Amino acid sequence: MRRRLSGSTRQAIADVFAHLDYKHLESVYCYEGGDEFWRAKREPCRKLGTQVAEALVPTLPRGGRSLYIGAGVAELPVLIAEAIDRERHVEPYNLRRSEVVVLNRACQELSVRFLARDASSARGRFDHLWMVSVLNDPERFPHLSPLSYGQADPVSFNPFEFQKERRIVQAIVKQCMPKLTTPGLVTTSTEEVVWIADWCHRHKVPYRVSRKHYPTALVGDPICFIKIG
Ligand SMILES: C[S@@+](CC[C@H](N)C(=O)[O-])C[C@H]1O[C@@H](n2cnc3c(N)ncnc32)[C@H](O)[C@@H]1O
Repeated sequence: MRRRLSGSTRQAIADVFAHLDYKHLESVYCYEGGDEFWRAKREPCRKLGTQVAEALVPTLPRGGRSLYIGAGVAELPVLIAEAIDRERHVEPYNLRRSEVVVLNRACQELSVRFLARDASSARGRFDHLWMVSVLNDPERFPHLSPLSYGQADPVSFNPFEFQKERRIVQAIVKQCMPKLTTPGLVTTSTEEVVWIADWCHRHKVPYRVSRKHYPTALVGDPICFIKIG
């Protein structure tokens, strides 16, 4: 069930989206046509992000901690809603240093600070992990990603390169999942559920995937929630 965010949270989200340096973000998200991309995506990104925040944030315990593995512009509404409406500690990580600079500048009035580091370096435990469109990223995993999306070409598919990338993906999951307290919650894309499920099976941890999916505006992978433990 969705619950409307407070007026102050909505205002904070609108302010951050108004203060983002979209010119700088063009080259982070696009090889070309970045100007057009942000003109088209900026508002859907705020709107769909707010819808996810309305579904997710009221279910998270007040004062808890969330680890965001690979968070960018799309995650801003949820991060802001967690921090303001639930007074939660949010720790977003992103390996793209130039994007982190832009995001932190836009969030300087808030308690949201992006870290340009590997999320596996995060300390302590979290009751919520967010990892959306990270393990199926076609730029980082060009051999694994087509398989994730059901688009692998059997003629050109390279199983050796795929295996290397699968080991990296499994290592990311292996490093991050133990940071989750149980019972806990994972937010991920429908394409990435299998990696979380695989970890749960290996560790004999029960999990339940939500039936409801939420659309996203930038990468476009639908989001779902997984109850762990
Ligand atoms: C395809 S982008 C998705 C960004 C965002 N989640 C979205 O849906 O728009 C993948 C992001 O994950 C980040 N990333 C990948 N592995 C990471 C790690 N181990 N720690 C932190 N960030 C990571 C990359 O830097 C990149 O910003």
